[in-house]
Amino acid sequence: MAITPPSERIWWKEPVQKVEIVWVIVAFLWGLTMFFTMIWWHGFGQQNLSNEAYRIQPFQYAEKVDKMIAEHTVRQEGAFPVVKPPPGSDVYMIARLWKCWPILQLEKDQTYRLHLSSMDYNHGFSLQPANINIQIVPGYEHVVTVTPNQSGTYALVCNEYCGINHHTMASNIYVK
Ligand code: CUA
Repeated sequence: MAITPPSERIWWKEPVQKVEIVWVIVAFLWGLTMFFTMIWWHGFGQQNLSNEAYRIQPFQYAEKVDKMIAEHTVRQEGAFPVVKPPPGSDVYMIARLWKCWPILQLEKDQTYRLHLSSMDYNHGFSLQPANINIQIVPGYEHVVTVTPNQSGTYALVCNEYCGINHHTMASNIYVK
């Protein structure tokens, strides 16, 4: 609150100061720099996976997963089939309340097309320790091309809150 009225009645109609123009230009150029860095880093930083997404009905997706499980299951782990699909093939995983289905076993240095979809709600695909994070959305089939380059047991956790047993939604991917 001003006690006295401004000396200039039209106080806001000033020419823009040089320093303000300079800062607007600096901020704009920095924004552009970050934008192009993002694109460059996608290609050369090998951090963010290229991700394709296709619309699909949950039951259609489940049919493809069941087919892979029927053809390539190598053993059971409790109630979970462990599936070892041929190198270079399409591999499928379902996220649903509250499990990732089935368990995949992949070969080191082989490239796979990994498909992900949800049967019900949003789930997360967080692969540790590789720190790969993908959101799994029902109605969409996400496809990422992966080449596991280290053997071992990878941990898979759901990192989208999906209900009362969200914390139990964890699994493994084996790479040998
Ligand atoms: Cu699925 Cu949290």
